[in-house]
Amino acid sequence: MAATRVEVNIPEEAPYDVRIGEGVLDGIGEWCQRTPAVAASPQVLVISDANVEPLYLARTKASLERAGFKAPDIVVPAGESSKSTAVAAELWEAMAALGLTRDCAVLALGGGVVGDLAGFVASTFMRGITVVQAPTTLLAMVDSSVGGKTGINLAAGKNLVGTFCQPAYVCASTDCLTTLPEREWRCGCAEVAKSAVVDSDEFFFWLLENAAAMAARDASVAAQAIARCVVFKADVVAQDKTESRGVRECLNYGHTLAHAIEKLSGYGTFSHGAAVAEGMRFAAAMAHELVGASLDFVDAQADLLDALGLPRLPWTADPEAVLDAMKHDKKARGGQVRFVLLRDVGAWEVCDVDDATILAQLAAWNATAPKEA
Ligand SMILES: NC(=O)c1ccc[n+]([C@@H]2O[C@H](COP(=O)([O-])OP(=O)(O)OC[C@H]3O[C@@H](n4cnc5c(N)ncnc54)[C@H](O)[C@@H]3O)[C@@H](O)[C@H]2O)c1
Repeated sequence: MAATRVEVNIPEEAPYDVRIGEGVLDGIGEWCQRTPAVAASPQVLVISDANVEPLYLARTKASLERAGFKAPDIVVPAGESSKSTAVAAELWEAMAALGLTRDCAVLALGGGVVGDLAGFVASTFMRGITVVQAPTTLLAMVDSSVGGKTGINLAAGKNLVGTFCQPAYVCASTDCLTTLPEREWRCGCAEVAKSAVVDSDEFFFWLLENAAAMAARDASVAAQAIARCVVFKADVVAQDKTESRGVRECLNYGHTLAHAIEKLSGYGTFSHGAAVAEGMRFAAAMAHELVGASLDFVDAQADLLDALGLPRLPWTADPEAVLDAMKHDKKARGGQVRFVLLRDVGAWEVCDVDDATILAQLAAWNATAPKEA
């Protein structure tokens, strides 16, 4: 299967390539050489996590070294806890000890955690050095590696400290997905579904047709889905690089309820993707009531999520507690809860919804929840 190249063109930023395909990781050194912002780097520091290291670090370093780069590495513990001020500070110190200079680059090899963390430390070290993203999870390939958001967590909340910093190159080596645990695969599938529903009929009906193959990890379908998601996200980010024009908000579809579910059920109880899928179903039900979405749309989205292995969750919670969590989410504005609602595939709007309506919708949602198996 030939690799696919998607060029990301964001106003006032250097354009960059996303290369998607089997084995492209083995050519990452060569592509770094072809990328002007990386080509002259005396060192390319590879940052990875403890799960990804034994699988893909040696290949990555070998490719960089073949291309003539010095390629030291730092491995952080796997998991969200590495997106912390403590780990960021350790990385900055280690980068200084390695003698990294302003013309060096950082290569993030891993999922969204490594991508966000490495992107953050690279964009702040010496006021910003180049970052290359080599995503190894489906979620990172379809979402977090493109668009330039970096971040770490504080005790007060997720991603509260971060930067906007576009990568110089993104290398999505689809063969890396073969080792991804099933839970992580489905997590990525939820973001693929979100992109398709928000994007267009063309993407949505293609995915609906190919959902069983996607759930079964068909390599060709997955590569096409990744490319479509990257094109979609690049287009959104090109219109609204810093989430200040109201366009990038569409990427939060399903996330208003998802964040509340993750918080109230305890982080990790349900995967982020499972919570996003639930949030998309809830948003569609709400869109039917509030903005005239048809039941055909609600059902088609449900069919898609079912086929991707993202069933309705056996989850209920006190509506008041859910509303409270939504109001404290960082996406809420002045205590006003906002939902991305779709009138139809591709036709989204951001709606401020009043408390009484949200409480009524949540109560109705609880009433139809499946019982725990
Ligand atoms: N910057 C953005 O625009 C953006 C967008 C969405 C999400 N995010 C962030 O992304 C993070 C979640 O990313 P994620 O879902 O990739 O999680 P993750 O990085 O924690 O990866 C999930 C798990 O899979 C392991 N793993 C990674 N690649 C593997 C592989 N190929 N084979 C086997 N195991 C592998 C990891 O070690 C980890 O245990 C969150 O912190 C979220 O805030 C950022």
